[in-house]
Amino acid sequence: MKKFFSVKDVSSVADVVQEALALKAAPYDNQDLGKHKTLGLVFLNPSLRTRLSTQKAAMNLGMNVMVMNMDKDGWALETQDGVVMNGSTVEHIREAAAVMGEYCDILGLRSFPKLKDREEDYSEDLFNKFIKYCGVPVVSLESATRHPLQSLTDIITITEHKKTAKPKVVLAWAPHVKALPQAVPNSFAEWMCKAQEEGLVEFTIAQPMGYELSKDFTKGATISTNLNESLKDADFVYVKNWSSYQEYGEVYTVDEDWMMDNEKLSLTNDAKVMHCLPVRRDLELSSEILDGPNSLVIKEASNRVWAAQVVLKRMLEDLV
Ligand code: CP
Repeated sequence: MKKFFSVKDVSSVADVVQEALALKAAPYDNQDLGKHKTLGLVFLNPSLRTRLSTQKAAMNLGMNVMVMNMDKDGWALETQDGVVMNGSTVEHIREAAAVMGEYCDILGLRSFPKLKDREEDYSEDLFNKFIKYCGVPVVSLESATRHPLQSLTDIITITEHKKTAKPKVVLAWAPHVKALPQAVPNSFAEWMCKAQEEGLVEFTIAQPMGYELSKDFTKGATISTNLNESLKDADFVYVKNWSSYQEYGEVYTVDEDWMMDNEKLSLTNDAKVMHCLPVRRDLELSSEILDGPNSLVIKEASNRVWAAQVVLKRMLEDLV
């Protein structure tokens, strides 16, 4: 594996999940694979889970890890070609990525969208330039449009906790006070659509009118604006806020109550409730659910290690 950016970078969801679960059962079996290899994690935005779980995964594989908080500690990056750098940017991505590639065998990059210009964000220009100029395998730690390590974690968690062969999974929009990217729901949707193609899940998206995701990520999903109807027979509910894709980055007032609570949970098949975290308590998801027996959020976050470890393992195997 040379790149982990989307579901297209794995040939079989079922296979990568089984490999991740085998690593969970025997975390230190591949300690020699990463010996004398260095992982560099580059953050342009904050992180708790992605940062720590990917470091832990790399250490389980015997790798050395370096973390660069580019937003705080690095030079201001220029990403456009042909500009005279007489403004606030100090270093071009051509040199910055190439230099980091000299120090590292594998690089990870987190780069959020600006949510101003849809075309610019969805072109993934910065991410693609980083891949092009660094010259080593790159794992996405969340880009403008996707969060694949989170989505792989989510299907691992669903596989572990499912009670039927083909559980019903509902991605449910939830309220928030800020305009958030579509990266997590886009990514979850594309992984669930592929899992559905493989016969692993039945997938529904419930969101208010105006919050439809790009069709590029939702092919095959059942899409509804009726949350209560969608929750019927659900085995897993994946709660997440996102801003509008159509009116890019906008947040509309929603009249109905979209926060997941025990009343809505009672409509489901005793569903397990998931969220990528961080979560705004009693805004996106009720405390009674988060602190109750149906919440999977901590187990889900714990599984971030095995998603990162299987990806790094596949990359290391292709280095040698
Ligand atoms: N879910 C997730 O990516 O968490 P962090 O933003 O804390 O890494």
